[in-house]
Amino acid sequence: MVRDAGAAPTVEEVRLPEVGPGQVRVRIRAAGVCHSDLSMINGTLSPPHPLILGHEAAGEVVEAGAGVTRVTAGAHVALNWSPPCRECWFCTHGEPWLCSVANIAALENGSTLDGAPVYVTLGLGAFAEQVVVPERAVIPVPAELPWESAALLGCAVLTGTGAVRNTAGVRAGDAVLVIGLGGVGLSVVAAARAAGAGPVIAVDVSTAKKALAEAAGATDFLVSGDTLSKEVRRLTGGRGADHAFECVGRAATIRAAWRATRRGGQVTVVGMGPADDMVQLSALDIFSSARTLRASVYGSSDPDNEVPQLARDVLAGALRLDHLVTDRIGLAEIPAAFDRMSRGEGARSVVTF
Ligand code: APR
Ligand code: ZN
Repeated sequence: MVRDAGAAPTVEEVRLPEVGPGQVRVRIRAAGVCHSDLSMINGTLSPPHPLILGHEAAGEVVEAGAGVTRVTAGAHVALNWSPPCRECWFCTHGEPWLCSVANIAALENGSTLDGAPVYVTLGLGAFAEQVVVPERAVIPVPAELPWESAALLGCAVLTGTGAVRNTAGVRAGDAVLVIGLGGVGLSVVAAARAAGAGPVIAVDVSTAKKALAEAAGATDFLVSGDTLSKEVRRLTGGRGADHAFECVGRAATIRAAWRATRRGGQVTVVGMGPADDMVQLSALDIFSSARTLRASVYGSSDPDNEVPQLARDVLAGALRLDHLVTDRIGLAEIPAAFDRMSRGEGARSVVTF
């Protein structure tokens, strides 16, 4: 939990609300440390406080409130940080990932600290032993699915896989560039390879990411820098990438993705950057390059359908997630995990309980 803007995260005793109608209480078994959690405390976003971090998690239902039909006690679930309402314009027009009521950065859910209200990240606040959430924020997963896998499916893997399949529609033979190799970018690399793309060029500032990129299926690894677009052209017959995925969340890397993409190519922004980091593109460049620039929010996915499908893929051995987890930690070690993340070390740190 973060008590105030700028404060270091601490472990506190929080009182959860009673489980109301349509709500469930979940005992968290695994929670991944995502860059969006770091963005809550490093100034990229300005959430209200005190705030419980964490939104990429899985656990076991311990109590289901009145009228809950989706799960009963004992069910294994992944958490959904943008649970669609199924009623708004976006939900009824096939874009549930843009649901106008679901995606709230932080909200009060009746949790308290010393009697005062506490906010929970994305309606979840999953860096906790237990959470109370609406039933539509839980997605049942098979009991055989490892907890860590279930947790990662709820954010990094769904986001990365969906960006490739749903948002960009990568096809076999496409040349794909991926900038930023955290849990999200490595999931993009794996999904691009699984779609038959090639080359799949993985880029990071940290050379320590090379082995992780190759384990995920990258055909080439490049260090981010001024010559990136030239090096990408060298690997793509002089053309540039058909698809570039920006998985950092910065204007500079969006620009780099844009420049390294071919004429008519597609740039998909997966990273979430700050409000004041401006991307400059010239009017003539936008016209003559004929490129498309768009964002992928939560993998342009419907998590209720796609998380169970991804879970089946993991159990069938078609989707491997083990290489994504590089550190297993306790709640008190989350600040150290943020430090590793800031230095570009490792892939995912997962809190286990
Ligand atoms: N060029 C290339 N790679 C970079 C650069 C850069 N200029 N700056 C940082 N990176 C790399 C880091 O070294 C790191 O490997 O980007 C990677 C980001 O990984 P994580 O911090 O683990 O982030 P992740 O959780 O994968 O999220 C990525 O997606 O959902 C959003 O908010 C999230 O914006 C974040 C992005
Ligand atoms: Zn996340």
